[in-house]
Amino acid sequence: MTRRRFVAGATALVAMPWLASGPRAADVPRFALGVASGQPRADGMVLWTRLMGEALAERVAVHWEVADDEQFTRIVARGQESADVEWAHSVHAEPGGLAPGRWYFYRCRALGQQSPVGRTRTAPAAAAAATLRFAIASCQRYDVGHYAAWRHVAAAHLDLVLFLGDYIYESAPRRDPVRHLEGGEVFTLAQYRARYASYKSDPQLQAAHAAAPWLMVWDDHEVSNDYAGVSGSDPLVDTRARRAAAYRAYWEHLPFAQAARPTAADMRIVGRLDWGRLARLHLLDDRQYRDAQACPLPGRGGSNTVALADCPTLADPARTLLGSEQEQWLADGWDLARPWNLVGQQTLMARMNWQDPSQGKGVYWTDGWDGYAPARKRLLGTVAAKKVPGVVVLGGDVHSNYVADLKADYDDPAAPVVASEFCGTSITSLSLAQARVDAARAFNPHIRYARTDQRGYVSFELDGRELRAALQVVDRPLDPESGITTAARFVVAAGRPGPVAA
Ligand SMILES: [Fe+2]
Repeated sequence: MTRRRFVAGATALVAMPWLASGPRAADVPRFALGVASGQPRADGMVLWTRLMGEALAERVAVHWEVADDEQFTRIVARGQESADVEWAHSVHAEPGGLAPGRWYFYRCRALGQQSPVGRTRTAPAAAAAATLRFAIASCQRYDVGHYAAWRHVAAAHLDLVLFLGDYIYESAPRRDPVRHLEGGEVFTLAQYRARYASYKSDPQLQAAHAAAPWLMVWDDHEVSNDYAGVSGSDPLVDTRARRAAAYRAYWEHLPFAQAARPTAADMRIVGRLDWGRLARLHLLDDRQYRDAQACPLPGRGGSNTVALADCPTLADPARTLLGSEQEQWLADGWDLARPWNLVGQQTLMARMNWQDPSQGKGVYWTDGWDGYAPARKRLLGTVAAKKVPGVVVLGGDVHSNYVADLKADYDDPAAPVVASEFCGTSITSLSLAQARVDAARAFNPHIRYARTDQRGYVSFELDGRELRAALQVVDRPLDPESGITTAARFVVAAGRPGPVAA
């Protein structure tokens, strides 16, 4: 069976009622949120599902199988997990002992029902020469658009999907929604669980999960807008309690390992994955450990857009976006042997100055790396000092496509380019007017491409020689059947930082 037929079949399965007759509890579709896989290693990965519907026992046995073939005639691993009410009947199975660099099929069975079939793979062995095809995606606000982009991701023959944050939005749906979404702003565990279930009911999102393993980091909206550590933008809300509920629901609904299960208000998502001899992926968390944003609006927390001259805190080298422990972890873990160091993180790293330099020292948005410029300088200064090969920073958050040169010192026009950046646009979420970015382009010559009016994802192919990026943009964001177009292509040559239009 071809890959394309498999993807189409998976979508059809998801959309199909499980057992057509009668309203009995046994007939409730238990696998209505589909299946997913993630965290691939050379010998295994995490398989995920969640049982849905009323009248589930406190603990339900769920059987899982991994096979070489889609018909499951050659089963290579199987096991049983307990889906517990305490964790929303989610399943996080961790098959091991699989062969490196191989594709597999998996499915689950419980209460007389079978899940859709998912496709996943292992990472290549450490010494294997390898290629890598993956996509970055972020910001899939449900009530403002459709998920056609996910159908194209599912059909794109990718080794990995890297999701860079805003899997859900905690906010109340807007008044004129493109799609109806239950509930208002979410605060409690039950509300976060319901929000994930709504998002994950989408068949195109399910198809993308079923097509390849995912790696994920979160951004702010998995908890609340602009939160920083345990402080939120609304000082009247208990952000520690809210974060505990939100992190728990996040773990319950995504293919994270059991070892990542949150304790109280903490969950570790920081990690690394080596892809043969080709690349090391570093996954960062710029939310949980950051210092609060500088110079917020009066009586509020969270982001602001301020002049550097009015906010000396922006220049304080003691402030960090990653926390000092994670900063050190990254500095110590750069791979000096492989040609590529890919960094999956939340937001735009390149400087984006919104003010004509003849008018002052610059105006910056405080929630992104510009709000923590000395920390950015430390990170990129280490990349320069250690001559770290092939650093490519991947981000989301700003609902825009930005392609940029990264420099340790943006105040020095002669500073060398030390790394490349692709900040991918949103799946659906809306951005600011294109005219605003166009007006600022002249002050930000290191930004090679900037479009706020595109929705989609960015796909990448890399080998030992070069990385090729394609900015994939949906034709009609409000149409679930939309086609997709490549808006621009860039290449980064190994050993020569900086994206070049192709
Ligand atoms: Fe977002």
